[in-house]
Amino acid sequence: MLYNIIDFEVCGDHSGKLVALEKGAEFPFDIKRVYYIWQTDRDVVRGKHAHRALEQVIVCVSGSCDFILDDGATRQCISLTTPVQGLHIKSRIWREFTNFSEDCVVMVLASEHYDEADYIRDYDVFLKELKG
Ligand code: TYD
Repeated sequence: MLYNIIDFEVCGDHSGKLVALEKGAEFPFDIKRVYYIWQTDRDVVRGKHAHRALEQVIVCVSGSCDFILDDGATRQCISLTTPVQGLHIKSRIWREFTNFSEDCVVMVLASEHYDEADYIRDYDVFLKELKG
């Protein structure tokens, strides 16, 4: 499977909305790192890598952007447009993201600390590691 969409539980009334994310039945891993990305020009393509072990849940907390996911056999595009859903991507999935709205803020919850050795940044190496 390329990805899984998690629907978050929303608390909220006239005073505003709130989503809380913590490990449990609704969340697939212990969160070791959180980072966020904003002020990305629409045509920029980020990502262009896969991870050897790390999993992520990606939330577009503001605005929208598109993710292209690839498992070496299938390629699919998913638009993230809401803060009430998370895109769960397991390891060994090539990802690119682009088409950022001006107000786009992407928050990434990761299962591991930052480790450049966990990145596969060359698509041909990605395909080779899938076969190996
Ligand atoms: P990268 O993961 O390639 O960004 P994206 O997939 O969004 O295009 O990271 C971009 C740069 O930021 C790279 O030089 C590594 C650095 N970085 C950190 O230092 N710590 C982190 O947790 C992350 C995600 C990136």
